[in-house]
Amino acid sequence: MTAEPVLAQILTGEFSEYGPTPSLGFNGSTPGPLLTVRQGDELSVTFENRTGEATSVHWHGIRITNRMDGVPGLTQEAVPDGGDFEYRFVAPDAGTFWYHSHSRSWEQVARGLYGPLIVQETAPPDVDADIVVIVDDWRLGENAEFIDDFDGMFHFAHGGRLGNYAKVIPSQSSVRRGDRIRLRLINTANARVFPVAVEGIDGKLVALDGMPLGRVEEVGTVTLAPAQRADIIADVVDDIEFSFWSGQDNYRLGLITVDGSNPSPRTSEIQRLPSNGIVAPSGEPDRRETLRMQGGAMGGRHPGEDIWSFNGVSDLPEKPWLKVDRGTAVQISLVNDTSFPHGIHLHGQHFFEIADGGSLGSLRDTSLVNARESRDILCVFDNPGKWLLHCHMLGHSATGMKTWVEVT
Ligand code: C2O
Ligand code: CU
Repeated sequence: MTAEPVLAQILTGEFSEYGPTPSLGFNGSTPGPLLTVRQGDELSVTFENRTGEATSVHWHGIRITNRMDGVPGLTQEAVPDGGDFEYRFVAPDAGTFWYHSHSRSWEQVARGLYGPLIVQETAPPDVDADIVVIVDDWRLGENAEFIDDFDGMFHFAHGGRLGNYAKVIPSQSSVRRGDRIRLRLINTANARVFPVAVEGIDGKLVALDGMPLGRVEEVGTVTLAPAQRADIIADVVDDIEFSFWSGQDNYRLGLITVDGSNPSPRTSEIQRLPSNGIVAPSGEPDRRETLRMQGGAMGGRHPGEDIWSFNGVSDLPEKPWLKVDRGTAVQISLVNDTSFPHGIHLHGQHFFEIADGGSLGSLRDTSLVNARESRDILCVFDNPGKWLLHCHMLGHSATGMKTWVEVT
């Protein structure tokens, strides 16, 4: 895969008279190519950086070998412009993942340096179409160019650099009425939390952040923080319309249109996906920790040296925030003492969100914690290495909201 400058027709529909946007992409396009690998198989990518600046690729959500995690300064050196890197790893979990730049990511991801990564089940569910649906927003100027305010203080200190144009990019533009389809929603935006409404289907939510739900759920509005994913299996009833409530109006994100009808629609019940085999620990956790999000506009004082901090420390400390032996179960209270939502992402392992009342919720790699709220998560750290823990509102991470965990 070659990371390079590309021209992308981001503005479409009623805005398509605007020209393409100079962007960054992989192999000539943004989003980059859909990578598909079978569960348990090894993926090998010769990565070439031709962007004009240093970069690296992170394979978001994959329980990966540490040195393939793509984090400059922690797991590898950034790949210089003109340089190469050999990424090679086994994909242990079936599900919906993605890859993106992890170098100046608040700018490079916004400029288009990301793509979808699908790990297929050994026996995939029986569907007529498997469709990736990227959900993103872009901040564009009058000539469809990126507004060059990636380092804008206002964005850093508030909710992040939100786009002024949003849409879905489905991997397939039409389906038949009566088709059973799988939709893989991926929020690739830098900062925007999308409460996505999907109309025209009758189906179930079957996975979050790549991990199958223990039991299928009604779809409803799917709230996706940056980097979060949701898999839906559903039957097509009508044109599929994606929209979200922007706070002011119902913003239309795009369509997958109905073309013809399926002569033999499936009537079987929609089943849950096979589990990836991550077992929930029983009994008391081995350790309890608290991670406080602090700072930002209207956030009050904190001792960190940058805009944001975790437990009073901005940016990567020399020593890990948490050092644990492999297999340790840690319950972490994520406490949001700020005036903005944060999507907290842990590299290298998934964790359980703990529901009110203490029961284990879904497995995630990114947890959305709204302003002034908190959430407990439970993680069995079983992947050795140095793992980043950061806000996936990428400008927040850039200005302090990040730390790391060492598993030995
Ligand atoms: Cu998807 Cu450290 O990120
Ligand atoms: Cu944040």
